[in-house]
Amino acid sequence: MMRADGDPREELLGLVRLLAERVRADGEMGRALSYLVREQEPVEAAVVAGSAAAEPAVGGHAALDGVRAALGDCRRCLLHRTRHHLVFGEGSPQAELVFVGEAPGADEDAQGRPFVGNAGQLLTKIIGAMGLRREEVYICNILKCRPPGNRNPQPDEIISCEPFLIRQLQVIQPKVICALGTFAAHTLLKSEAPISVLRGRFHSYQGIPLMPTYHPAYLLRNPGAKKQVWEDVQMVMQALRQERR
Ligand code: URA
Repeated sequence: MMRADGDPREELLGLVRLLAERVRADGEMGRALSYLVREQEPVEAAVVAGSAAAEPAVGGHAALDGVRAALGDCRRCLLHRTRHHLVFGEGSPQAELVFVGEAPGADEDAQGRPFVGNAGQLLTKIIGAMGLRREEVYICNILKCRPPGNRNPQPDEIISCEPFLIRQLQVIQPKVICALGTFAAHTLLKSEAPISVLRGRFHSYQGIPLMPTYHPAYLLRNPGAKKQVWEDVQMVMQALRQERR
């Protein structure tokens, strides 16, 4: 999953570890060799309703609905056993700015909506301070189901969920992506650099400028980092202004 920056042995080791994770998860779910067969419902089905990659803005709602439909009552990893609600994401299909967080927490799991707990309220304030409304942007996560006890996402969970995030981003085609926290930044950028190193400058996700910044939950524990997040989102605002020219 994570790129090993050029060392083929490390890369191979990473792949072996991921495969082992997948075999373990399959074993726990009584599922045989899922990595050798197509997904139960290929994510490609998502694009039937409006050709997500080819026609972004016009069919935005329909295409996003198609991605949601393809996800279905997802049981691709073990998180389905403990979730109450799958949290797909919400906001404008034509959003110029997409926030990608880590995974739903308890409040999000209970309501089926992203970023509605304490961290979510802080994110809503940050969005407001940027002169935007929540409905104007799009908010989603790397994982669509809550890891029990808010533990870190596991590699096999990310592998199962990532195709749907990729489709969401292909449908929306935002001008800027803001990755909230380590897992979002690492997953989207295929980097393992610390968030403190990644933040503060734009990276590229499939040609889209991506700004990593600290997760709002981290800000709740470390209010001193708000200054840096404010610097990061000001750069995002500037990039959006330039895109509109
Ligand atoms: N933290 C996240 O990363 N995502 C949410 O939706 C809520 C909290």
